[in-house]
Amino acid sequence: MANCMVTGGFGFVGRHLVKMLLERGDRVTVFDVVPGSPFLEDIKGEFNARVGDLANMAHLVEAVRENQIETIYHVGAAIPPLTERDPSLAFNANVLGTQNILEVARLLGVKSVIFASTQSSYSDGDAFIPMDYPQRPGTFYGMTKVCGERMGEAYWRHFGVNFRGVRYCIVNGPGRGGVNPGQFVVWTLQMAALKRPFKVFVEPDAEVASIYVKDAAKALIDLNEADEAGLRYRVYPIMGYTVTARQLVDVAKKYVPEADLTFRVNEDMMKKVRSLNLARRMDIEPAMKDWGFKPEYDLDASMRDYVAQCASHRDLLDYAIPEF
Ligand SMILES: NC(=O)c1ccc[n+]([C@@H]2O[C@H](COP(=O)([O-])OP(=O)(O)OC[C@H]3O[C@@H](n4cnc5c(N)ncnc54)[C@H](O)[C@@H]3O)[C@@H](O)[C@H]2O)c1
Repeated sequence: MANCMVTGGFGFVGRHLVKMLLERGDRVTVFDVVPGSPFLEDIKGEFNARVGDLANMAHLVEAVRENQIETIYHVGAAIPPLTERDPSLAFNANVLGTQNILEVARLLGVKSVIFASTQSSYSDGDAFIPMDYPQRPGTFYGMTKVCGERMGEAYWRHFGVNFRGVRYCIVNGPGRGGVNPGQFVVWTLQMAALKRPFKVFVEPDAEVASIYVKDAAKALIDLNEADEAGLRYRVYPIMGYTVTARQLVDVAKKYVPEADLTFRVNEDMMKKVRSLNLARRMDIEPAMKDWGFKPEYDLDASMRDYVAQCASHRDLLDYAIPEF
C-alpha cells in the first residue's frame, strides 16, 4: 500500500487511474484544479481530493507534505485545443506545473514521478516513429510536453529524482471529452454502445493509432513498479492498436447490430486528420521489453467495455455531441 497523488485525477485518464490505485489498496490523493468528477462521485469517500493549481508551488507542497506522498502520477495538464489558443496557460500548467512537480519531488523526497507525455511531442513526418525520432513539435502543447520530458530527465540525472514517463497516442474510452479530429474513434464506439445515431465525419479509411484508456492508466502503474535496472529510457512510447473508421463501424455493429452508424465526411475534419497524420505508429518494443508493457484491450475488448460502461453509467455517458 502506497501513498499516491494523481494530478489531473478528475480528468479522463486520471479518473481511471484513481480507481485502479484504490482497487490495489493504495491511498490516493487527487490534485486537480476542478473539485470533482461525476465519474468518481460514488467513491468520493475513498480518496482525498485537493483542489489546487499545478502552477502554484505552495498548493503542491501542502498536498504532498500533508499526505506523505510517495509516488506522484503526473497526469494533469492543459490539453489542445485550449493550449493552442492560450500558450500562457499551456506554459503555466504544463511547463511550470511539471517543474513544480519535479522540484517538490526533489525537496520532499517523493520516491517516483510518473509522467504522461504524448505522441504530439514528435516532429511531423514518417509513418513509423523510432525511439530516436526528433521531438520538435509544431504545437504549443507538444512543446510543453517535450519540455516536461527533458526536465524530468535532468532532475533524474542531476538530483536522482526517479522520473519515468510514457508517450500516449490517442487514448480512447467512453466519456473522453473534447472536440478534436481523433474524437471520431470515441464517438463511433460510444454512440453505438448507447444505440444513438452517429454520422462518422471522416472517410472510412481514415486511420488512427490508439490505446484504450484502461491500458493507458494501467501502464503508468506498471512503469512505476518496473525494476530500475531494466530501464534503458526515462520515457517510453506506448500504443494499443491502429484502427480505421471502417473497422470501428464494423466492430461496433458486431457487438451492437442495431447501431445506427453512417458516414458523412466533413472535409475540414478530414483535412485535419490527414495533416495530423494520426496513424503514425510509435515503437513500443522498448516498453514491452524493459517493463513488460502489454495492452490487454484490442479493438474488440475495447468495444465490449464501451458497451458495459455505457450500460452501467448511461446517466453520465448519454450526452449530446456536436454534429459535423
Ligand atoms: N487523452 C489523450 O488522447 C492523450 C494523448 C496523449 C497524452 N495525453 C496526456 O495524458 C494526460 C491526461 O489526459 P486526459 O485526456 O485525461 O486530459 P483531461 O483534460 O481529461 O484531464 C486533465 C486534468 O488535468 C487537470 N488540470 C489541468 N490544468 C491543471 C492545473 N493547472 N492544475 C491542476 N490540474 C490541472 C484538469 O482539470 C483535468 O482534470 C495529459 O497529461 C495529456 O497531456 C492524453
